[in-house]
Amino acid sequence: TYKLAVAGGGSTYTPGIIRSLMDRLEDLPLSEIRFYDIDGERQSKVVVAAKAVIAEYTDTIQVVETTDPKTAFEDVDFVFAQMRVGKYAMRELDEKIPLSHNVVGQETCGPGGLAYGLRTIFPMVELVDYVDQYAKKNAWIVNYSNPASIVAEGVRKLRPHARIINICDMPVATMRNMAAILGVNREDLVVDYFGLNHFGWFTKVEVDGVDRLPELREHVYQHGLLTEDVSKIDYRHADSSWIKTFKNIKLIMDHFPEYLPNPYLQYYLFPDYIVQTSNKEYTRANEVMDGREKTLFETVRKYEETGILEDAFAVGVHGTFIVDVTISLAQNLGRRYLVMVENNGTIPNLPADAMIEVPALITSSGPIPEHVGEIPYFYKAMIDQQLASEKILVEAITEGSYIKALQAFTLNKTIPSAKVAKSVLDDLIKANKDYWPTL
Ligand code: G6P
Ligand code: MN
Repeated sequence: TYKLAVAGGGSTYTPGIIRSLMDRLEDLPLSEIRFYDIDGERQSKVVVAAKAVIAEYTDTIQVVETTDPKTAFEDVDFVFAQMRVGKYAMRELDEKIPLSHNVVGQETCGPGGLAYGLRTIFPMVELVDYVDQYAKKNAWIVNYSNPASIVAEGVRKLRPHARIINICDMPVATMRNMAAILGVNREDLVVDYFGLNHFGWFTKVEVDGVDRLPELREHVYQHGLLTEDVSKIDYRHADSSWIKTFKNIKLIMDHFPEYLPNPYLQYYLFPDYIVQTSNKEYTRANEVMDGREKTLFETVRKYEETGILEDAFAVGVHGTFIVDVTISLAQNLGRRYLVMVENNGTIPNLPADAMIEVPALITSSGPIPEHVGEIPYFYKAMIDQQLASEKILVEAITEGSYIKALQAFTLNKTIPSAKVAKSVLDDLIKANKDYWPTL
């Protein structure tokens, strides 16, 4: 049996991830789950729900709730990381400050993502160090923390030997939608994919050895990455802003009919359109605070009052995927998933030290990427520019360099000019004074 810690236990995702773990106890038997968060008060509320979920399945798992890193990580086998530095209050600023300059306001893409990256790299490195210090020698961190691309680059650079696997649920969520469109199970899809996190393309979508990508592209071109019956889409991505995001992919197909894009590419390819159709006063952070956040805390309040857990915390791809990857790691199954790895020749015409997102076999010694080969110039050029922005950002934080931060912002494709880059950066510096190191 294993001991597992959840870092960022206070996340609204925690109960869903716990249900996913409980559903899979046969494949990943657990003796202990430790919840760790720097905000003990918030965490203790979420843990009420998490414990209620665990109690539905078993009473043999010891549950620990702590704000102390040693208590959290001592002797654990796995750490699920899902930190959100600055919580939703800062996400709101990541989204609204760029929008006030007519630039895309999104938590992982554009200046909002860069700002979030500057908040997250050092806390993530600190977490890696705690795990190194306290956990079992062969422990793995399975990391969902955003902005995943920048976090992956920061950890690669600052802690190159860390046993961490960086993952994102967007590729698998995209596959869920594809499967719904094709009327097959997600597990039946075999895909080829290349890119950076939130910046990649599906190049093949096979079902029973037949490439269904042409058919999918035709559907997406007409209806977006959606089925008529939206209930087939995971509850997690069924909010109106997600429906809009999946619809917008029509626009990408109209211009780039070659592959099928990660939905996040719309922010880089159509930033002007995205800004025009965004509400500058009410962004995704508001939607989440008024929706997911409120519902969870309301559920906990009622549960404490009545003993009835109203929300069942459905699992969805987000919860399933992290557990799938962990089972493959634990049992050395070599299952094939889209994850982030260091390039090292997987895509020979991208830098060897790029953190790319590609299919990899997940073994107990880590992900083994499948060879992808050279990619066409257009995609390489786009990726190179985004990679440069992200790599220079990591240099900016490690060197405390304002000039490099400005270079990173200027290179980001969502930002129209160096002048705009500077105004947005300067506003974000003020807003992040409690979080960013001095630049
Ligand atoms: C997707 C992405 C995650 C992102 C999340 C945001 O699942 O892959 O990187 O964090 O969406 O979802 P939210 O519901 O918080 O806007
Ligand atoms: Mn993601």
